[in-house]
Amino acid sequence: MKILVTGGTGYIGSHTVVELQQAGYDAVIIDNLNNSRIEVLDSIEKITGIRPEFEKFDLCDQPKVNAFFEKHNDVDAIIHFAAYKAVGESVEHPLMYYRNNLLSLINLLDAMKQCTVPYIVFSSSCTVYGQPADLPVREDSPVQPAESPYGNTKQICEEILRDTIKSTDKIKSIALRYFNPIGAHESALIGELPLGIPNNLVPFITQTAAGIREQLSVFGDDYDTSDGSAIRDFIHVVDLAKAHVVAVDRLLKGKNKTSYEVFNLGTGTGYSVLETIRTFEKVTGEKLNYKIVGRRAGDIEKIWADTSYANDELGWKTQRSLADALLTSWNWEKHYRGLK
Ligand code: WQD
Repeated sequence: MKILVTGGTGYIGSHTVVELQQAGYDAVIIDNLNNSRIEVLDSIEKITGIRPEFEKFDLCDQPKVNAFFEKHNDVDAIIHFAAYKAVGESVEHPLMYYRNNLLSLINLLDAMKQCTVPYIVFSSSCTVYGQPADLPVREDSPVQPAESPYGNTKQICEEILRDTIKSTDKIKSIALRYFNPIGAHESALIGELPLGIPNNLVPFITQTAAGIREQLSVFGDDYDTSDGSAIRDFIHVVDLAKAHVVAVDRLLKGKNKTSYEVFNLGTGTGYSVLETIRTFEKVTGEKLNYKIVGRRAGDIEKIWADTSYANDELGWKTQRSLADALLTSWNWEKHYRGLK
């Protein structure tokens, strides 16, 4: 079985390609390398012994998308990661986010209808919930006005999927709403590698500990939480990747109950930013240089997942802890920077 992984040289995509290959699937990657490096293919090959097929182009280029499916007419399912995903950046550059994240999905769905590729797993996000009124947040918790253009693109993409699936019996889909992906593969050969200044917390932590960044800024300690810093549900990227194999398997084996399913992918436990910093210091022995500053535009106060539906229906549950994830992030950072 061949699975197309869009954004497959990216952070979550590359970890998912490894898990797909180790589960016996063939993987072909489309990536425009805007936010990832071609050398990730070498790392995947080092881990699994299999070099995934790779095509470099932008999914916003519809003729290239159609040409891809003419060439690769044996794709059995798609896992669609390719999107911009930084909350803060989307507040500064909304049009870049709407164009890229919406048009790439629309082009893919168009091609699926024409080339009869029946299944797509969509990389969605807990940001669709905005700031939930009740926690933990469930899949049927109200989708609220997004707090950022990034979150809004995910909401709109889910609606595009839902409406497209209603219009045809040719496409079935599972949307996976990620909480906060962190960590790296145990080999330290792949991991999160933001190009430029990291938007996300954990790569900023590891780059500060590695001396690449002077100091971490903690965005706000005046939230209504135990220590005043915001709370997130940090999920190990390998647990997340394994969930994608389960989801694509579910579609290929016709185990999906409806033509469009949505699952929360989190650990079910929230940790504050300051707790995360303390856990990093504890598991690595590194003292982190940070300061408290004002809140960041677009941030919500607290969120963590109700994972019961994914646990029961998918038979999937996270196996790795916050400490495991932070240690693998640090090992990856040290390996990538050639540090001991
Ligand atoms: C986490 C917390 C910041 C950086 C992410 C992804 C998004 C989506 C949801 C998957 C916040 C604080 C951060 C820093 C800080 N995931 N922070 N200093 O905003 O929750 O969104 O998860 O789709 O794609 O971006 O993640 O890591 O940016 O922030 O204090 O330098 O850490 O304020 O409270 P976020 P994040």
